Amino acid sequence: MAGIVIVGAQWGDEGKGKVVDLLAERADAVVRFQGGNNAGHTIIRDGETFKFHLIPSGILYPGKKCVIGNGVVIDPKVLTDEIDGLRARGIDTGGLRISANAHLIMPYHLLLDHAGEARLGKLQIGTTRRGIGPCYADKAARLGIRVQDLLDEKILKKKITAALDPKRLSLRPFQKDPSLDLHAMTEEYLTYGHRIEQYIADTSTLVWELLDERRNVIFEGAQGAMLDIDHGTYPFVTSSNPVSGAACVGSGVGPKDIDEIWGIAKAYVTRVGAGPFPTELDDDIGTQIRQRGGEFGTTTGRARRTGWLDLVALRYAARINTLTALAITKLDVLSGFDRLHVCTRYRGEEDAVFEQFPYHQSVLHHARADYEELPGWTEDIGEARTESDLPDAAREYLEFVSDFVGVPVALVGVGPARDQVIWTRAGADSVAAPAAAS
Ligand code: GDP
Ligand code: IMO
Ligand code: MG
Repeated sequence: MAGIVIVGAQWGDEGKGKVVDLLAERADAVVRFQGGNNAGHTIIRDGETFKFHLIPSGILYPGKKCVIGNGVVIDPKVLTDEIDGLRARGIDTGGLRISANAHLIMPYHLLLDHAGEARLGKLQIGTTRRGIGPCYADKAARLGIRVQDLLDEKILKKKITAALDPKRLSLRPFQKDPSLDLHAMTEEYLTYGHRIEQYIADTSTLVWELLDERRNVIFEGAQGAMLDIDHGTYPFVTSSNPVSGAACVGSGVGPKDIDEIWGIAKAYVTRVGAGPFPTELDDDIGTQIRQRGGEFGTTTGRARRTGWLDLVALRYAARINTLTALAITKLDVLSGFDRLHVCTRYRGEEDAVFEQFPYHQSVLHHARADYEELPGWTEDIGEARTESDLPDAAREYLEFVSDFVGVPVALVGVGPARDQVIWTRAGADSVAAPAAAS
């Protein structure tokens, strides 16, 4: 399999966790390379549900290396809770490795995220309030605290002091908040250091060694292309780069180590939080999709906004990620609609037509979707395991998407369970295909 990157091709929650879990069976390592516990990846295995926020989705296989790369921001409380939760369920976490260079989410990052959103009022981004943005901001400002700093009390205290100093003004309303006490904070974080010390490693070297031996490594993205801080719907984005290029930066390997790049997309679109969403459905159909698809956030429980598949955005995601394959998830959720709509271009002010994803924020904010209508199907497809098990209309839908985007569909999701997938003919040629599919 060698190096394969799995990224979200929409606004997150595309089903990346499920796909990574599936492909991880043949992998030697799974590496998270960006984001933090703003991510929520749900995996259903033998009827049991697992939710991961930080730990790579490969952890359910004993013995695989599961790496939290340098590009990830780590809330050590969430991480240690996640480790404890897995252990309590009998899952071996011995394969976990944490980059010594990954940055830490500190108590003040959480406070600043809350305060920032409150200050924005109606203009708020709708962040997960997990401190992600302020933590990446400190990283860029070179005021971040890194995993390696947890192992030295003197350094940790010095760095916290340096990081807190410039924030004094914005944190004034929280002056009395116990979580800001320097001594208590240092103690708490040293404890986390002791807890995770056994997992801290030079993960860039570890991943390089595996790739050098032509072992199989999955780079697991969080969020999705449209939430990318450079290429997404700025400022309604996350604070990292969920695109495939970040797999290299966030784990410490070069672009030539990547063999395939899969974009995960739902058969429709969802978005949590604020920001433009040209195909959003505020009607009955939107509600039906939300109910049938269980579209409520894994991390915050918020109802996800829903809409028809946006092929303009998906083609854009294919380009900025250089996707080699698509995995279309949740096709089952579209069963039962008479007619399906897919957006093939946008209309702007004065009816201007946009065939490509517009780079200008105001254009995007005014964009309305122009749709192509495709026939629906009524059959329940949850039991389909090959393309030929699918109704004609479902096959046509997939073909339309693949032709429009110019990327083959490798895998189709027809339900949340691990075995509810179809490997297509194109998928069988992938380095990720299980022996039975190739
Ligand atoms: P991620 O953040 O990209 O990993 O996605 P989430 O886990 O946040 O959200 C995807 C949800 O869809 C999860 O609850 C999955 O169990 C579920 N899911 C994944 N693939 C399918 C599918 O093909 N059909 C259905 N019905 N559910 C799916
Ligand atoms: P996974 O990995 C969906 C969204 C938030 C908000 C914006 C910024 O499960 O696909 P942040 O807390 O990152 O500063 O919030 O990004 N967001 C996600 N939406 N899935 C995610 O992760 C997300 N992570 C962040 O809702 O709009
Ligand atoms: Mg999610």
